[in-house]
Amino acid sequence: MKIKTSIILIVSTITQPALAYVTSGLPGHVHRAWLKQMTIEVCDTAPGQLSQEMCNKAPQLLSAWAQNPYVPHTKSKACSETYPHHGKECAIFCEKLLKRLIDERRAGNPNAIASTQTYNSLIDVWSRSGEKGAAAQRAEDIVIGMQDAYSLGEKDVQPDLESFRLVLKAWSQAHGEEYAPHRAQRLLEWMVNLHQSGQNDLVEPDSDCFNIVLNSWANSNHIDAPRKAENMIMYMDKLYNNGNADAKPNRDNFNYVLKAWSKSENLIDAATRAEDILNFMLFLSKQEGEDDLTPNITTYSSVISAWARSKHQDSGRKADGVLKKLERESKVSRDPELTSNTILYNLVIDAHAKSPSNKAHTRARAVLDRQIRLYKDGNNECKPDVYSFTSVLSSCASLTGTASKKEKQQAFDIAMSTFYEMSRFNLAPNHVTYGMMLKACSRLLPLGRERRNVTRNFFRMACKDGCVGEMVLNRLEDAASSAQYKGLMKNITKDQLPEEWTKNLPASDFHSRKYKKNNNSAKRKMSKQK
Ligand SMILES: *[C@@H]1O[C@H](CO)[C@@H](O)[C@H](O)[C@H]1NC(C)=O
Ligand SMILES: *[C@@H]1O[C@H](CO)[C@@H](O)[C@H](O)[C@H]1NC(C)=O
Ligand SMILES: *[C@@H]1O[C@H](CO)[C@@H](O)[C@H](O)[C@H]1NC(C)=O
Ligand SMILES: *[C@@H]1O[C@H](CO)[C@@H](O)[C@H](O)[C@H]1NC(C)=O
Repeated sequence: MKIKTSIILIVSTITQPALAYVTSGLPGHVHRAWLKQMTIEVCDTAPGQLSQEMCNKAPQLLSAWAQNPYVPHTKSKACSETYPHHGKECAIFCEKLLKRLIDERRAGNPNAIASTQTYNSLIDVWSRSGEKGAAAQRAEDIVIGMQDAYSLGEKDVQPDLESFRLVLKAWSQAHGEEYAPHRAQRLLEWMVNLHQSGQNDLVEPDSDCFNIVLNSWANSNHIDAPRKAENMIMYMDKLYNNGNADAKPNRDNFNYVLKAWSKSENLIDAATRAEDILNFMLFLSKQEGEDDLTPNITTYSSVISAWARSKHQDSGRKADGVLKKLERESKVSRDPELTSNTILYNLVIDAHAKSPSNKAHTRARAVLDRQIRLYKDGNNECKPDVYSFTSVLSSCASLTGTASKKEKQQAFDIAMSTFYEMSRFNLAPNHVTYGMMLKACSRLLPLGRERRNVTRNFFRMACKDGCVGEMVLNRLEDAASSAQYKGLMKNITKDQLPEEWTKNLPASDFHSRKYKKNNNSAKRKMSKQK
């Protein structure tokens, strides 16, 4: 067995050294046992005693461990994925092998060569080990060690772009590490320094490196992350003017900055700033001919969500303004990549619904009207869905308490016509839809016959559609008098709702059967454990 696998190995290493061990065709556990045995054999040999064959084999073993033999590798899987499963163990085997090669070299064996490639495998296994901050730190130490050795004349270990890119990636994946983006940024600046001072001509950062750092800022929760991302763009621009063509800021880079703003906690400033950036991009792309800065849907979507999330009292109109801008650009440019979609309309309707203005509901409805018109004109991407309609209902039902009787009646009429319009799009109301209609009854209609009638109708429809959950029951209590409530509930208590009434509830609703089923099985498990 052992001899046979060695042959397979030797033959296949000639063409594809890195993949040879992985694709040796052996069952996983045999393959790993064999790797372990070989690794131990190499590591246990006294320094200076490694044969030529073993010296050749060590880097190959290292690269086999770096691929993590515990996980199945398929060609379709991107090699950038993390393999935390046994990741640390694999990284430690790689460390041992590298150390062994270095010791061997020190003992005077010229056959022991740890090349840049070998070091990169080690950095790679750390960056994918799932060990977060510790892994990134180790990866960075390795690249620093490589650069030091290279500076002292060891040409074999000159760190290259790949070495640094892998460390940057390790930092970008060091989730929970507070200063990870700062570290990534610092490393990138070091690359620039090394390159500019002539200490390493291979490490001029490329667009990939910039994007890793920007992404790291965009994903971080640092209060100053959006500003740092902006500074990064300015830094890139400077590098571009100094001759690094890859550093030219493009839409991709700007989209990261916008992402950082759109998730910023400093909400109002963030949305204003995001919109300024969008306008800046529009200006540069139109007036200055910078085509690679043309905003796309992702750009607009970040700015719209920044407004939708902001607590600005005019957030609905602001978000709507950005959406209208997109509609205009899309019409003028006829660029299919600028086709607005349902998600954006829903975000804007929702932003209106949350606004305290007395006109919020008419504005929300106007957005839905635009959406419907575009859909009828052939834009299938923006087909209204149940959320589009329900958000309009929500905006009607949320009309401020200080509105006049007439305004309330108008809001209720909009809610009614919007509700009945849903069926024309083959959309079934859900539990939130019914909840919103009952809320509209309680908040917009005066007590009296009409309110009783409408409340009864909507509750019965909710029963028939199986949407009676927490939301509908609570809203019913507000909308109906206690006598009407009792009558409609027909002596049924909240915790004994008929299956018919609850059949279309989401599993997360307290009254749904699925919720109860999960809960019972959870309970059973717990009592078994006792
Ligand atoms: C917008 O452009 C970026 C690249 O700049 C791309 O990654 C993204 O997928 C684009 N968004 C859409 C929705 O096409
Ligand atoms: C009750 O409301 C329905 C529509 O919701 C309407 O058709 C019906 O005429 C109303 N009945 C009364 C007595 O108001
Ligand atoms: C509800 O229960 C009461 C007594 O428990 C009974 O008199 C009444 O008829 C019941 N109503 C309905 C609608 O079932
Ligand atoms: C089960 O129901 C109880 C209340 O009766 C709730 O507190 C708990 O979170 C539920 N558990 C699960 C797994 O849904």
